[in-house]
Amino acid sequence: MAEPIYSPGLEGVIAGETAISTIAGGLQYRGYSIEDLGEHATFEEVAYLLLYGELPTGEALTALRKRLRESASIPQALVDLLAKIPKGTAMMDIMRTGCSALAHWDPDTTDNSHDANLRKAEHLLVQLPIVMAARHRLAAGQKPVPYNPELSLAANILWMLFEKPPSERLTKAMDVSLILYAEHEYNASAFTARVVSSTLSDMHSAVTAAIGALKGPLHGGANEAVMKVLEEVGTADRAEAWIRDALAQKRRIMGFGHRVYKTGDPRAAYLRKLCQELADETGNQDMESMAETIETIVRTEKNLPPNLDWPSARLYHYMGLDVDLYTPLFVVSRVTGWSAHVIEQLDNNRLIRPRANYTGPLELKWVPIDQRK
Ligand code: SDX
Repeated sequence: MAEPIYSPGLEGVIAGETAISTIAGGLQYRGYSIEDLGEHATFEEVAYLLLYGELPTGEALTALRKRLRESASIPQALVDLLAKIPKGTAMMDIMRTGCSALAHWDPDTTDNSHDANLRKAEHLLVQLPIVMAARHRLAAGQKPVPYNPELSLAANILWMLFEKPPSERLTKAMDVSLILYAEHEYNASAFTARVVSSTLSDMHSAVTAAIGALKGPLHGGANEAVMKVLEEVGTADRAEAWIRDALAQKRRIMGFGHRVYKTGDPRAAYLRKLCQELADETGNQDMESMAETIETIVRTEKNLPPNLDWPSARLYHYMGLDVDLYTPLFVVSRVTGWSAHVIEQLDNNRLIRPRANYTGPLELKWVPIDQRK
């Protein structure tokens, strides 16, 4: 056994093996580049690719869509709970509760077999967006909108939120966003899911734990934090003063930097053109110019390129989505990657249990309580 190494935050440590995706030399899911997938695939095709390891045939995709339609509802008791949870509760907390609650009604909850976990992955793939959309409407005093069997998963997310048939343009933008957010090797939330499933716990526990990890602003929560930055800056003519002041105060600029990508996140580069097009179509050129100014100065002053969350926040804003939905949309997408990691872990499992360097005191003398100061 080699001498154990210690690296803060496990930076640079190879903590396992995976055939699901690689970020070396550009991001690939099961060997397909995100550029090709973003260009040609729908999110349902990418979900199938991540879960089953290959792109679906036409027949397999039709069968997947049929299975999703058949699971596209949540129990009335859960809808009632979503209506009762106090107003103002963060939607990421709703997603965590919703995922955990869905386990109580899933017939496969106690079955940890490969096939049962694939079934649960597909249930969560369609039920988590229903939880998100139902809560969003209930909190606004509106009735939830049922899943539309005629629409794709990406189009249904917009349909269930707005009760308006989404344009092809908006559906494509949603598909691209969900494809880019779907999977990313051993990121903190995927690793969380693997740790939980390595103890032979269950799919819903692993995904619930992953949602908790994704919520943090250093991880998935960054896309909502980016929107708060853009709202704080307000207009493009204030961008330079704002960012120079923020850097002078040594503030962490949300949407920039990455633990692995040190010369740029290919997903951010891929979204740039779509962001600009949607900004032009929705009259948001000022926000694009604000973002450009901030990006240029952060790159120049801190040598930090943007990550996926930097353009994603703007894209969701241009699509008319509330900020509180941004990280939940990351959940709705990443549940595909998380589920694939859970299944891969269980297919060749070894309990994940690293060591720690002890830094505390040793061999202290016992002191009776009446003599302690
Ligand atoms: C995601 O892992 C994944 O793959 C995640 C993800 C996925 O798809 O799953 O890609 C999704 O989480 C993207 C990242 C979203 N988070 C943010 O945008 C939050 C802002 N970014 C940072 O907090 C930071 O860049 C991290 C957390 C993303 C990465 O941080 P590291 O690798 O731990 O780097 P670090 O914090 O040690 O920083 C190194 C230096 C520090 O300077 P010094 O203290 O050494 O002088 O760079 C600075 C940091 O201060 N730095 C930043 C910064 N990010 C790093 N300074 C200002 N703003 C930033 N955003």
